[in-house]
Amino acid sequence: MSSLKGQTAIVTGASSGIGQWCARVLAEQGADLVLVARRLDRLEKLGAELTKSFGIRTQTLALDLSETTAAQRLFDATEGQGRTIDILVNNAGFGTQNPFADIGWEKTSEQLQLNVIALTELTWRFVRPMRERNRGYILNVASIGAFMPVPGYATYGAGKAYVRNFSEAVAHELRATQVRVCCLCPGATATEFLQVSGQTVPGWQKMAFMSAERCARIGIAAMLNGKRLVISGWDNAVGMWLLRFLPRRLITWIAAKFMEN
Ligand SMILES: NC(=O)c1ccc[n+]([C@@H]2O[C@H](COP(=O)([O-])OP(=O)(O)OC[C@H]3O[C@@H](n4cnc5c(N)ncnc54)[C@H](OP(=O)(O)O)[C@@H]3O)[C@@H](O)[C@H]2O)c1
Repeated sequence: MSSLKGQTAIVTGASSGIGQWCARVLAEQGADLVLVARRLDRLEKLGAELTKSFGIRTQTLALDLSETTAAQRLFDATEGQGRTIDILVNNAGFGTQNPFADIGWEKTSEQLQLNVIALTELTWRFVRPMRERNRGYILNVASIGAFMPVPGYATYGAGKAYVRNFSEAVAHELRATQVRVCCLCPGATATEFLQVSGQTVPGWQKMAFMSAERCARIGIAAMLNGKRLVISGWDNAVGMWLLRFLPRRLITWIAAKFMEN
């Protein structure tokens, strides 16, 4: 399969989990890749593997996207150098499990900068040349946490609700063009997310997690099919649909129960 041959995709957070698999799925389809994260060694290893397996070109960029100038630097190193970016996967993100008042401001600020501001700025920078060319795809990774208040992950969940609403609004604004914006809302997925967030989950619960590969395949397929929103897994999709019929306080209570250690 090589439907994306000759196209270039940026994947943020490509050193692990869902982002690493988004890169693999795009490489399978022939896309050249710009791989972005902080851990350069992992990006280089992945880039070399994908070049060898699929004959694609890869560029690696070690960037801390929570730094306020990082989105601009990513643009300058790619589109700004005359390299056309056809696909942007805004995947890098993290959460911290704890009551809001107990988390240090630096951590919360870093998270909002990465999950919300960098994603928004990257969308703004890359969507403009895409709109000019009248083609392109953007995949913004949110979460099923976007559908509810999430005690224990208050700013994370709220940030993901922003990503969902923002993505759907921009997708609507661009409806008369060939630029497609899609929001992927994963449920629990087997990645390094929990290690980073500090949440411990019993082994039996982890067995129900979706693989990062399946989640990435669902997201990339939805994006290429022009969908505006996709929830990974029918069970998560049914769950989010049922939430519409429950009172907000009950939803918040259920979310808190799920998120307890
Ligand atoms: N796993 C889940 O259950 C789940 C559920 C819903 C939504 N999500 C969302 O899915 C996305 C991917 O997460 P994941 O589950 O795949 O977690 P992961 O395995 O921890 O991967 C996170 C990726 O983000 C990168 N990243 C973190 N901080 C960064 C920074 N400051 N600058 C640049 N890159 C940074 C990491 O790379 P470096 O550390 O090398 O920088 C890593 O590649 C996130 O947006 C997350 O919120 C995950």
